[in-house]
Amino acid sequence: MFKTTLFQLFSAAISVSALSSSIPWEKNGTFGHETLSITRKNNGSILRLNIQNGPINLYDAKLGTDMTTLLNSLIPSNIPSNAKYPPPKVIVFSSDNPDFWMGHYDLELLIPGRTNLTTDETNALFANAVATARLLSTLPTIFIAEINGHATGSGNEFLVQCDMAFAGPNAVVGSMEVAVGGLQGNGGIQFLVRKLGMAKAAEYLLAATSIGAQEAADMGWVNRAYGSAKELRKAVDALTYRLSILPAGALNGTKTAIRAFGPNVGQSDADVATILRLFPEEIPLLPRFLELTDNQTANAFELGALRDIRDVEKAEGLV
Ligand SMILES: *[C@@H]1O[C@H](CO)[C@@H](O)[C@H](O)[C@H]1NC(C)=O
Ligand SMILES: *[C@@H]1O[C@H](CO)[C@@H](O)[C@H](O)[C@H]1NC(C)=O
Ligand SMILES: *[C@@H]1O[C@H](CO)[C@@H](O)[C@H](O)[C@H]1NC(C)=O
Ligand SMILES: *[C@@H]1O[C@H](CO)[C@@H](O)[C@H](O)[C@H]1NC(C)=O
Ligand SMILES: *[C@@H]1O[C@H](CO)[C@@H](O)[C@H](O)[C@H]1NC(C)=O
Repeated sequence: MFKTTLFQLFSAAISVSALSSSIPWEKNGTFGHETLSITRKNNGSILRLNIQNGPINLYDAKLGTDMTTLLNSLIPSNIPSNAKYPPPKVIVFSSDNPDFWMGHYDLELLIPGRTNLTTDETNALFANAVATARLLSTLPTIFIAEINGHATGSGNEFLVQCDMAFAGPNAVVGSMEVAVGGLQGNGGIQFLVRKLGMAKAAEYLLAATSIGAQEAADMGWVNRAYGSAKELRKAVDALTYRLSILPAGALNGTKTAIRAFGPNVGQSDADVATILRLFPEEIPLLPRFLELTDNQTANAFELGALRDIRDVEKAEGLV
């Protein structure tokens, strides 16, 4: 079932391409990107993408496909020469969901036969998730995570790959992967090691734990924490406006140089290969997670994000 090679995965990733439109990245809740509602500012140089995908902003087939379509549309070679506007200089990812910024990967997609999708389709979604998150590093656009809810699992991988992250009082960041026998992919581990240092990254990743905004800011997991959603929004809006009036070439040149610091694509591929190798051991653990979360809803277990040792014991089937 999961004896798929990396080569096959990345070939599958190419199959989702940008939809044709004169301003493909500006689709919104009514036109196209269903799970990403788009607000444009300063003549399209800033886009705010509000993630809205059910109770936990699950990284499922819908959100994954919308994110892939959107970010693919920003790849310089995909931008039509007659595009009405240049691509945005800055994109902010935010959410009005009071509890979730972006949640974990849809566990149902990992369990064979649990959805109506074929194995090829679920493999392609997984490959797209990897390829899409990688675009955050390589696109000229500056990506800002404005987090005031959970950024766990896939959400955390996404957050650590953004150029900057700012947190409000409801932010919770962390990785639960080890608790289900897996690991963070998409370079999530390497980016966290760069942010926190090896030992602190080990403390949080190995123990599968999550933390709040202030602790995350103190350690550099996010840039800063704010005391209210309003202050967070105000600070992010001020920064994005400032970025949006600076020259696009200089922003891209500086971003590219910052990204030379790593992580390297080879290490990121090696982690994805490890995830695939561990899948057979992970899959039998997932139904318990689905049960504990009442099928991936914002219940006490999901909101707890494994901060309580009792929840870890439940996840491991000990109580
Ligand atoms: C979506 O975009 C269309 C066309 O630009 C616009 O008319 C509509 O108001 C937008 N809808 C939302 C919810 O932003
Ligand atoms: C908005 O952007 C377009 C395309 O780059 C440009 O032609 C137009 O002058 C800009 N408008 C303002 C008010 O800056
Ligand atoms: C699978 O398809 C059937 C029939 O179209 C539908 O009733 C069911 O809800 C689908 N199941 C899932 C998990 O999407
Ligand atoms: C961004 O900067 C890098 C490094 O100079 C360059 O290779 C790349 O072509 C630039 N991208 C764009 C779209 O200008
Ligand atoms: C979760 O989904 C399974 C399989 O579709 C179903 O049997 C179960 O009743 C659901 N549980 C809840 C709490 O919705």
